[in-house]
Amino acid sequence: MFEPTIIVHGGCGKISPDMKEIAIEGVKTAACRGHTTLTRGGSAVDAVVEAVTTLENNPEFNAGHGSVLNRKGEVEMDACVIDGQTLASGGVCGLRGCANPIQVARLVMEKTAHCLLTGQGARDFMESQGIHPVADSELITPRGRARLEKVLKSAFPVKEATESQSSGPSALPGCDTVGAVAMDAHGNLATATSTGGIIAKLPGRVGDSPIIGSGGYADSDVGAVSTTGDGESIMKVCLARRVAEYLEKGESIRQAAEHALEFMSNRVGGEAGIIALSRGGEGGKCQVGCHFTSDNMPWAVVSNGKMTWGIDHGQELSSPLEGE
Ligand code: GLY
Repeated sequence: MFEPTIIVHGGCGKISPDMKEIAIEGVKTAACRGHTTLTRGGSAVDAVVEAVTTLENNPEFNAGHGSVLNRKGEVEMDACVIDGQTLASGGVCGLRGCANPIQVARLVMEKTAHCLLTGQGARDFMESQGIHPVADSELITPRGRARLEKVLKSAFPVKEATESQSSGPSALPGCDTVGAVAMDAHGNLATATSTGGIIAKLPGRVGDSPIIGSGGYADSDVGAVSTTGDGESIMKVCLARRVAEYLEKGESIRQAAEHALEFMSNRVGGEAGIIALSRGGEGGKCQVGCHFTSDNMPWAVVSNGKMTWGIDHGQELSSPLEGE
């Protein structure tokens, strides 16, 4: 048997000092819920969906309730889940009127022959599965509206607005995207990622989060990864799959994450964050770690009855977990 382990992130960005504690509490709660799922016999997929659902329900994070708004003041969300045992994957993009896109992504994985549904098709599928739509007003926070107004007042042309964010999600205060990766007692790995995308995006814009190998990747024989940050940069270098490639070459989680972020920064610029884990041998402890090039990224790990967390540089996690 393997030691059930989960790591979650609340998105990379620049978090004001007064918000740091709130962000840390959010990721700790999500990691705890995911880990409880694992210790009750749930699968890695069950755990990452539970953790990401918790973060989608928390209005402090850019996913589900609390998602950022597009240029028209609407919420359009992307999400993806991958089962590392089978490489099964389900995703949604441009989904409107949904409280928990990660749960629809899971249904795409489990109930359809497809990997990714978009826009109205994703919404129709959601309703066909008995999930009731919610009004945008239930997803939008006063802070979300204020942030959009501020960006639109600056009257950026779309390309410049996107490039401004591509100089870092930290260009605007707050966090980008949520994600979780987990290993269950059988050594199976999974990843889940969910986001409202980038503020003031063009309607219809899809980011990295629902794209296999960009926003997430999982193969139980290699590792599981969830990414956050500048989607247009992450997609160009298939960031999550790149981390997995470095793991396949024998690098540690920390080396692979640093190496992948350095590659992205050198080739296309932009900031991002990564959480990842890989399993050790039978009975062994998994390797788990995180790394980010933005100012902050709230993260939390639960393994072996112990929780570790951080948000600033210097608090990044390297395996083995401290104290083991
Ligand atoms: N990383 C989230 C996005 O760019 O949509």
